[in-house]
Amino acid sequence: MHKDIDVSAVLAALTLDEKAALLSGQAAWESAAVERLGIPSITLTDGPHGVRRPDPTAERFSFETSLPATCFPTASALGASWDVDLLTEVGEALGTESRAADVAVLLGPGINIKRSPLCGRNFEYLSEDPVVSGHLGAALVRGVQSKGVAASVKHFAANNQETDRMQISAEVDERTLREIYLAGFEHIVTTASPWTVMAAYNRVNGVHAAHNGWLLSEVLRDQWGFDGLVVSDWGAVSDPVAAVGAGLDLEMPATNGASATKLVEAVKAGLLEENVLDQAVARVLTLLNRTAQAEPADDVDFTAHHALAKRVAVETAVLLKNEGPILPLDPDATTTVAVIGEFARTPRFQGAGSSQVTPTRVDSALDALTETAGKGLRLTFAPGFQLSGDEDETLHAEAVSQAAEADVVLMFLGLPEGEESEGHDREHLDLPDVQLQLLRAVARANPDVVVVLANGGLVEVATWERHAMAVLHGSLNGQAGGGAIADLLFGRANPSGRLTETIPVRLKDTPSYLNFPGADGIVIYGERLYVGYRYYDVKDLRVSYPFGHGLSYTSFAYSDLHATVDGEGDDVVVRLRVTLTNTGPVTGKETVQVYVGDVAASIDRPVRELKAFTKVELSSGSSTQLEFELGARDLSFYSPLHRSWVLEGGEFEVSVGASSRDLRLTTTVKVDAPPLIAPVTWESPVGAWLAHPAGGPLLRRAMDSGEGSAVAADPAILRMVESVPLKTLVTMSGGRLDVTEISRYLDADTHPEGRS
Ligand code: BGC
Repeated sequence: MHKDIDVSAVLAALTLDEKAALLSGQAAWESAAVERLGIPSITLTDGPHGVRRPDPTAERFSFETSLPATCFPTASALGASWDVDLLTEVGEALGTESRAADVAVLLGPGINIKRSPLCGRNFEYLSEDPVVSGHLGAALVRGVQSKGVAASVKHFAANNQETDRMQISAEVDERTLREIYLAGFEHIVTTASPWTVMAAYNRVNGVHAAHNGWLLSEVLRDQWGFDGLVVSDWGAVSDPVAAVGAGLDLEMPATNGASATKLVEAVKAGLLEENVLDQAVARVLTLLNRTAQAEPADDVDFTAHHALAKRVAVETAVLLKNEGPILPLDPDATTTVAVIGEFARTPRFQGAGSSQVTPTRVDSALDALTETAGKGLRLTFAPGFQLSGDEDETLHAEAVSQAAEADVVLMFLGLPEGEESEGHDREHLDLPDVQLQLLRAVARANPDVVVVLANGGLVEVATWERHAMAVLHGSLNGQAGGGAIADLLFGRANPSGRLTETIPVRLKDTPSYLNFPGADGIVIYGERLYVGYRYYDVKDLRVSYPFGHGLSYTSFAYSDLHATVDGEGDDVVVRLRVTLTNTGPVTGKETVQVYVGDVAASIDRPVRELKAFTKVELSSGSSTQLEFELGARDLSFYSPLHRSWVLEGGEFEVSVGASSRDLRLTTTVKVDAPPLIAPVTWESPVGAWLAHPAGGPLLRRAMDSGEGSAVAADPAILRMVESVPLKTLVTMSGGRLDVTEISRYLDADTHPEGRS
């Protein structure tokens, strides 16, 4: 526990060498200390779903040798809970475990958008949608930081693939960046005040994220008001001087003094202003203050955290289909249930790479099913396949024969561990062939098959799901996932997870199919804003399961949608009220989703976009009234022309529903806003000038006078010149267009975007 540092006094007392040294780590997971001034070193550790504190006694570093910690469901699963309060609780538990392990900065959550289901790290990310990622990410940050531990929101920004991850340049237009790839970060920064943000490895439009002044200073700090520290992803800095100049504060891991030397030289040579370096040092000191605790760490109740991990795992499983309904199974029935698949015995509950946690314990579904089954229920088990993917005829035959003798078959299928990790992307979305062959053979022997999936990234289901009556998308559900699955299958818990990522029919249908993972150091985000459901909806494509989908053992009815609009323009507030009723036989949870679409816009916009959601529990037969509030930002788009979010007045369609393709009620609201005027400059096309309320009359007057009148008088010529920049028209007129008034008008305002 260190004392509060007086930032300005310490800054003044530090030598240039010491200041430079503070801007990179002193070891793999530790920041630098300056003992003479009482500046301590702090520990930074992964990660998003569990504290991966490297074992200090281990001889060499490996992801397998961290100290035991609770392994919660991975972000792909956490997202599927759609439960803000629950994720705050997870954040709190992560914070408590971090404090107890003397970890000051927990490197998570990861909130990058799932641009392609092939991204090898999608299991570490929350959603294809920025509202889900932003709201759930903010909840995790709040939870972690409530314990005095800094969260590190990562990877900022546009880190949506692993292929060539340290060099690739994500080529993204600004509107797409703002609306899709930055929006989640913006929400977290502006609502949850994270103490650190991690700059990604990749380049964004040509410039490395860790060296990107536009991202780190202009957007993150100046526009969003971020007042925390920017840490680099491990090894993301190749030019420390450029990085600090751009707004990066802490380079990790240690560079054995090499970066500090370069910083000192740059300051001495006048290539880096010392006050820029000082700002970064001040942010390091502020982080030390923020994470310094007067209170001793709480004891960790690992049993309680295991129970929380189970509760969370229950909330994250998505019941994709349930014919019959075959689920839930009655644990007290006199039946034989064949449990098939090695994953039932050897669960796959997390991904590999830097987020890999050493769990405090692991519950298998097989053990949990055995414990929960009543006396009359006979369980048999056959592994069916090897996790290595190698064929084994004996295992296959044994599983098929057990299936034939059972009343119901529970098949545990999933992705092999090696397929999902950082550093590489996936090549396809298929389950291993050996598993699919087994599924087909089992289904021939016994059609009453329930498939339970263990996967972080998506798998295609279209080619095999007809062989299963029910499919439970278990995700990578953490160390207590086995118990959660047993409770869900036996109806002790009611499934309530919802997809945060569309399951496409085929990989070929995915929005980035032609542009992933790029080549020659560049990946073009050619699908622009149309990521996930935004793409499938605008193209009206069939999908296997839509964004937001998930079944329950009960049913819900939506009624009485009312919308009111107060105020206008930036102050507009749209209030929604809707009644939700549990019309089914048991208590259950529904995630009510609010989608908004601009009926007629001056630019292309997605058909509809998620803007709000809430998860509610209702007992059978009960109702509740839900309220939502939407503001101007929820109705706006980002206009690079205006360099801001803009609201265009008019009609908006507002829908509430159970998924992006299961909209139960829709209403239209009319919103008033001042007309959108595109700013004009010499570069603006004639059409924009003519449409401009002040510029239009000026140009018309210029054209009407003298020799320009031929253009103004002939609609066909006028049409032809509409796209000609004004300055080109002036040149082409050979001086015959009198632009004195226009020049005076433009000169009167020095606004960089021109006059509006
Ligand atoms: C990952 C980060 C992680 C860091 C430290 C990097 O390879 O991209 O997510 O926090 O390593 O382990």
